[in-house]
Amino acid sequence: MAEVIPIGADHAGFALKERLKQELRKLGYEPLDLGTHSADSTDYPDYAHPVAAQVEQGTVGRGVLLCGTGLGMAYAANRHHGVRAAVAWTPEVARLARAHNDANILVLPARFVTEADGLEILRAWLSTPFEGGRHARRVQKIEP
Ligand code: RB5
Repeated sequence: MAEVIPIGADHAGFALKERLKQELRKLGYEPLDLGTHSADSTDYPDYAHPVAAQVEQGTVGRGVLLCGTGLGMAYAANRHHGVRAAVAWTPEVARLARAHNDANILVLPARFVTEADGLEILRAWLSTPFEGGRHARRVQKIEP
């Protein structure tokens, strides 16, 4: 069965979200679109919380969020226990967010990456495993 990956965006991330959904399907995943469903102005926490809640509850292993800078989505998602939402603006940052930080939510700064970059960042994040070892100790120390 295909892995379900919830995905959410505000108006600034809407267009790239639509493209990432296609790519997720092409790669054999099942995107679960939690909105927004148009380019009309909206509020990023309304989409960050539903995606992060699914990761927090363990109904899914990982999710994807997009807004203009990525920052608002990351602030909101990271309020959820066990969520590590990483803003990635290059494929290498996405790779390190997985390998070193075990990021379980990818956040894309839709106004600061091209569509091609966004797709490459998504692929890097999806395909990189957590390295564990010394990084596991550090990740465990994140919770205050
Ligand atoms: C929307 O204009 C913008 O503020 C939002 O997408 C995001 O960048 C917030 O962090």
